[in-house]
Amino acid sequence: MNLTRKWLGNLRSRTLAFLALAAAICFTAVACSGGAESQSTGGVKPELVADYIHTALASDRTAYTKHVVNRAKKLEGKPKEDGVLEVEATEGWENSNGIPLPAQMFRLGSEIASEDSAFTYNLISTWYINDAQGPKSEFEKKAMAEVEKTGEPFRDYQEVGGKQYFSALYPDKAVAEACVTCHNTHPIHKERYPDKVFKMDDVMGGVMINIPLEGA
Ligand code: HEC
Repeated sequence: MNLTRKWLGNLRSRTLAFLALAAAICFTAVACSGGAESQSTGGVKPELVADYIHTALASDRTAYTKHVVNRAKKLEGKPKEDGVLEVEATEGWENSNGIPLPAQMFRLGSEIASEDSAFTYNLISTWYINDAQGPKSEFEKKAMAEVEKTGEPFRDYQEVGGKQYFSALYPDKAVAEACVTCHNTHPIHKERYPDKVFKMDDVMGGVMINIPLEGA
């Protein structure tokens, strides 16, 4: 009697496990049977996924600027009136007692994110200070030119190394006077682009987001 009950119980749990597996397969099949656009992002359009990621990245950068960098008493050698912390936000933070600039903080995050994933993001510009941040591929060059022309995001599919990606470039604009002054007076900027003088609201570069469509 006891044995029969145990056997029945076993059978029941096995049946349940089987049903759960069948349901999971069914779900995957349904989730993956959408249009080409919604395939590998689980039914959410890649445009929307890229928009959400961009919102998160931009918000983190703004929060770091507002609530960390702005509290430093010094920004790149100059005193900051509203600063309260004995620290300097500086490009040379690694060799001083400083903290990274927002663009550097952004790059540090992007380097960690791309370590073991085909999903990547980075900050690029036609007038780059850091050599790693110039538009490189034909896609990046075209996207950057479009964003500079329209001031709007550029989104398209692309193939890289046999893999399909959905990529989007979002404008990075001069939203504060500090963006303009720091870049215009940077020694590398002055040497490379003496004729490029940024003004408020100019497109200074863009945030590139690459979402692999066939799993990482
Ligand atoms: C105090 C100086 C400073 C300020 C303020 C500043 N930047 Fe930068 N920015 C830099 C430096 C230095 C780099 C290169 C950092 C690196 O090594 O990744 C950079 C990188 C960038 C890049 C990537 C391309 C490149 O030049 O390598 C963009 C785009 C950019 N900044 C836009 C902005 C915008 C927009 C603002 C304002 C919201 C801003 N920056 C504020 C110094 C500054």
